[in-house]
Amino acid sequence: MTERKGPFSVDDVYLGDALELMPAVPSGSIDLIVTDPPFAIDFKARRGNYNRAGERVLEGYREIDSSDYLSFTTQWLDEAFRILTASGSLYVFSGWSNLKDILIGLDAAGFTTINHLIWKYQFGVFTKKKYVTSHYHILFAAKNPKHYTFNKIDHYPEDVWEINREYWKGRVKTPTKLPVKLVQKILRYSSNEGDLVFDPFLGSGTVAVASTMLNRRYLGFEIVEEYLAFARERLAHINDTIPAR
Ligand SMILES: C[S@@+](CC[C@H](N)C(=O)[O-])C[C@H]1O[C@@H](n2cnc3c(N)ncnc32)[C@H](O)[C@@H]1O
Repeated sequence: MTERKGPFSVDDVYLGDALELMPAVPSGSIDLIVTDPPFAIDFKARRGNYNRAGERVLEGYREIDSSDYLSFTTQWLDEAFRILTASGSLYVFSGWSNLKDILIGLDAAGFTTINHLIWKYQFGVFTKKKYVTSHYHILFAAKNPKHYTFNKIDHYPEDVWEINREYWKGRVKTPTKLPVKLVQKILRYSSNEGDLVFDPFLGSGTVAVASTMLNRRYLGFEIVEEYLAFARERLAHINDTIPAR
């Protein structure tokens, strides 16, 4: 029988605004949140940004106006804190431009930041008068700093991770897809098999895909229909290739 968390089935993804859906997720029901929230910059996911023939970049990526970003961030982080189990933890990705709002939101919600990780990736863009941005921030925060999952896989688990962005294989592209390898690293450190992993801003579904691959359960929300359909497609193909649990 399908397990439910309030109105949501475990191992499913839902269309809608995370701020509206998260209040329906029961308190203390999520083991780990891994998410890359929308940006507060003028990010345009247009086909024209990707100058490769025959490609179809999904449009309609939903971003937040920078003047609303702090209130948006504190709202979803408050909900994130509530829905995590007592030993739950959260990884939130951020570019540097909206990092301050994420840091404020984490403190305001009651989280304890355990680590500030840097994800270093390759980015071959030409700049004239500034450095090329080739890193991302990942804040690792716990609900209770005395009790959270941390599987020490490496002897020296360093806080700078160099992982390349993935090359796109399919015909349809999404502009902000995280590497599966990166999400899997987080899952291995901060969750165990059977844990429930949640991403309120699912995008192309990487967190759900990586969770399935590592025998974790997932739940995800996404506001753009096309993205959700893309995530579902990825999940459907994964389910064909792994044994049933
Ligand atoms: C940075 S992307 C996530 C990318 C994802 N980690 C991946 O690997 O594809 C953020 C996603 O949040 C979605 N989004 C923006 N506002 C939202 C909201 N209020 N509720 C749910 N999803 C939202 C955007 O449409 C976008 O797909």
